[in-house]
Amino acid sequence: MHRRTLPLSQVYRLLEPGPVVLLSTARAGRPNVMTMSWHTMMEFEPPLVGCVVSNRNYSFDLLRSTRECALNVPSADLADKVVACGNASGRDIDKFAAFGVTAITASHIAAPLVGECFASLECKVVDTRLVRAYNFFILEVVKAWIDPARKDAPTLHHRGMGRFMVGGKTITLPSRMK
Ligand SMILES: Cc1cc2nc3c(=O)[nH]c(=O)nc-3n(C[C@H](O)[C@H](O)[C@H](O)COP(=O)(O)O)c2cc1C
Repeated sequence: MHRRTLPLSQVYRLLEPGPVVLLSTARAGRPNVMTMSWHTMMEFEPPLVGCVVSNRNYSFDLLRSTRECALNVPSADLADKVVACGNASGRDIDKFAAFGVTAITASHIAAPLVGECFASLECKVVDTRLVRAYNFFILEVVKAWIDPARKDAPTLHHRGMGRFMVGGKTITLPSRMK
């Protein structure tokens, strides 16, 4: 897949609509990936993203100990892999091998990017003050990647209990922001 650098000032445009993402981590060379929909933009630049990662998940241990992850944005055609990664634990299996997900090397973090996703954000944990109370990690995006040919790909939006909304067409309306 062709990837180019996405300016950090543009990162909010990927996450503001709230797509389901794949959060990838790694420890001691062993990667993991989990599905996540509880995330929110918190700042434009540097982009800050808050997310809830349950302390029951293996990813919680990896994120807390390594303080690094990638947020990968899948298009709707990856729905089967997205659901699979959200219903199995890396404690039990290698989800990359089991579900045919490709780990590719990131530039600023040890955690891998998910090759099938049209955008990937390399993140460092910058604030853990709300982890104890809410399992809420604050991440700074330090590098962002996008496949320009698929930047408007339809995304998945979780509506609970196995139901998803699929992103539709993009429309342009007046905005103060250039
Ligand atoms: C659509 C979807 C959204 C999810 N969102 C979250 C989330 O925001 N936070 C979370 O902790 N778990 C979320 N999960 C559950 C985890 O993906 C799931 O518990 C996974 O098995 C954890 O994997 P791990 O043990 O390898 O970390 C979601 C699952 C699905 C299917």
